[in-house]
Amino acid sequence: MNLTEEYNLAVAHQQEHGCSAPPYESYQKLFDIAKQTNSQRILEIGTGVGFTALVLATACANAEIDSIEKDSEHVEIASGYIQSHGLSNRVHIHNVVAEDFLASLKPGYDLIFFDGFQIHYEFLPHYERLLKPSGILVLGNNHLSSKTSEQFFGELNDNGQWKILEKFGETTVAKKN
Ligand SMILES: C[S@@+](CC[C@H](N)C(=O)[O-])C[C@H]1O[C@@H](n2cnc3c(N)ncnc32)[C@H](O)[C@@H]1O
Repeated sequence: MNLTEEYNLAVAHQQEHGCSAPPYESYQKLFDIAKQTNSQRILEIGTGVGFTALVLATACANAEIDSIEKDSEHVEIASGYIQSHGLSNRVHIHNVVAEDFLASLKPGYDLIFFDGFQIHYEFLPHYERLLKPSGILVLGNNHLSSKTSEQFFGELNDNGQWKILEKFGETTVAKKN
């Protein structure tokens, strides 16, 4: 799998349609982090056109992936893309709004990747419930602040439930204690 080729295709697609789903630039880092976790269950928030779901599925060959996307046009494109890579059996794309859906998911994820625009505080309790102990949170789009993003990062740093592992680009990586 040539991820750079897939990234370039996803960027070309985004430019062609002018849609609001820029593919995740630090995909090689995401691949390396995911591979290290050897995850069996992964949650992604912000499927876009499916590029990072492919990255995660390639890095973790046995993982079941739940990927959440609110835009039905993106879901349609991503579903076709995932199918064309033969991954529909283990990449499950949910056409839902994350805020409405997270409470229905069962805990036990090894890895959560957030790439869904602004950071909102209300997601943090869900991450704490859904991740296994020592589970990894990769949080993109740190530059897109919301009314509650400061509170989110304040608690992530100080509530005793997390260890910040690294920061790169607009991304924070944290491990759940
Ligand atoms: C930056 S793009 C994701 C790009 C994708 N991860 C990739 O690199 O291929 C963000 C996506 O998140 C979706 N999104 C934003 N907020 C969301 C929410 N609250 N629930 C579900 N999807 C959301 C948007 O519709 C958009 O498709």
